[in-house]
Amino acid sequence: MLNLNSPEFASSEITPKEKFLNRRNLIFGGLAAAGLASEVRKRLPPIGMPTVAFAASKLPTQPGSFSLSGEIVTPKQKATTYNNFYEFGTDKRDPSENAHTMHTRPWTVALEGLCANPKTVDLDTLMRYRPLEDRTYRFRCVEAWSMIVPWVGYPLAELIKFANPLPTAKFVEFISFFNPGQMPEAPSSLGFPYREGLRMDEAMNPLTLLTFGSYGETLENQQGAPVRVIVPWKYGFKSAKSIVKIRFVAKQPETTWNDLGPGEYGFYSNVNPTHDHPRWSQAHERRIDTATFPHTVPTLPFNGYGNQVASLYAGMDLNKFY
Ligand code: MTE
Repeated sequence: MLNLNSPEFASSEITPKEKFLNRRNLIFGGLAAAGLASEVRKRLPPIGMPTVAFAASKLPTQPGSFSLSGEIVTPKQKATTYNNFYEFGTDKRDPSENAHTMHTRPWTVALEGLCANPKTVDLDTLMRYRPLEDRTYRFRCVEAWSMIVPWVGYPLAELIKFANPLPTAKFVEFISFFNPGQMPEAPSSLGFPYREGLRMDEAMNPLTLLTFGSYGETLENQQGAPVRVIVPWKYGFKSAKSIVKIRFVAKQPETTWNDLGPGEYGFYSNVNPTHDHPRWSQAHERRIDTATFPHTVPTLPFNGYGNQVASLYAGMDLNKFY
């Protein structure tokens, strides 16, 4: 297993995919005649290794636990052009049109706050820390639409274990990247950077995925590249994008949507078909899949993940803690 403390990971040299492939071809082309190519090939990382991953690069993955089967996967084209990423505008199409201005390299994630092992980790190190799994999850937005997306990542719990939270750490706060120069469409009313949070046991749940990719490739910028979380039993806004800080805190953190409209967007925000949003029903959702027009399906409690997570809320009134 890789160790995040290893000096090998102190810094990273990142090569864009095209440049890397060109360099590779040049090296192989030149050496093939001399019969040395196979020797060199052994010393270079295989194509697709995350050390050289860049926009829409293939990721080496293995089949993951908790993957849905038997549901129609939303085509990538739809999942990457119908997004919420308010830093790039408020219309669903805005992120795919505008997010190319975000610089996702170099990128680091700071582990900080109440933990024994605070550390700022560079992205390539983070991606290599644990094997990347393919996990097809239901993803349900609070606005009553949903998708089936094959995400790529590993359990956030792995990184939390590395950070080694102190017993006083009860919540995990996520802070997204914000740079007004790269995000000129961000509405000032929202109070960026985007902030989200989970209770420690929610963050440690094996379903909570530290996500680097989707559809077998690195995330598109509009999906929250280069790293986000996916919390599949909660409304989509709990799944913070383009994360730069993961902070361990004692008290329930303030979060973007909850601050803005506590009566509409609760801190817990578990998918709950019996608790309506004040302005619309949550009993159904529009499933965005291969059909020309989205069709309506009943919403499942905890988005269908009750077996894995209902016990986290035993004894809690989920109409009060919505
Ligand atoms: N993260 C950041 N930084 N900014 C955002 O505006 N929107 C949230 C969540 N994470 C958001 C964010 C909301 S409201 C949803 S529904 C999901 O991202 C959308 O994820 P998707 O665009 O990949 O479907």
